Amino acid sequence: MEILIPAERIQSRVAEMATDIARVYNGKPVTVVGILTGCLMFTADLIRRIDLPLRVGFLTASSYRGPTTVASKLIIRDDLLPDISGRHILLLDDILDTGKTLTRVVAHLIDRGAEAVKVAVLLRKIGRQEVPFEPDFVGFTIPDQFVVGYGLDFNDEYRHLPDIAVLQASEPR
Ligand code: IMP
Ligand code: MG
Repeated sequence: MEILIPAERIQSRVAEMATDIARVYNGKPVTVVGILTGCLMFTADLIRRIDLPLRVGFLTASSYRGPTTVASKLIIRDDLLPDISGRHILLLDDILDTGKTLTRVVAHLIDRGAEAVKVAVLLRKIGRQEVPFEPDFVGFTIPDQFVVGYGLDFNDEYRHLPDIAVLQASEPR
């Protein structure tokens, strides 16, 4: 597989993002909410570098099936999430693609009583967005290719790779 972003570059960019985030929140307590499972490594690496009073929780949002499937019905499960009412939420996702997932999850968190929601994504794909949505923090902007590694999967495989790589259409799946 062709490596698009090597592990060392991910690490240094995540560190920069943590610094930006701490500056924006300026000492205010934040509840980090990760969208499983893709957020796994991004969350673990980012929160260790965020110098703020911090709580962390997770939810799942499933709809995406593969490179050709369009996200339609999104199922959000948040039964493992701590109480978020009145909290300032920093929502984390691995990648902003069409924007549907994040738009719906932000609305869901506001619905559940969050005071405010900011969004940090590790990756943002160019030319794929279908709904207007502006994340507050973006790690890398990438071309319209299907990527795996550092939490990102294809059919739940490849998440454990330390780099982000391009999954070729011809790759065995
Ligand atoms: P959206 O709702 O279309 O923005 O989709 C976001 C979700 O689709 C992400 O959280 C990923 O789980 C998945 N996704 C989108 N593009 C890719 C990719 O290139 N590789 C792996 N997963 C992807
Ligand atoms: Mg995902």
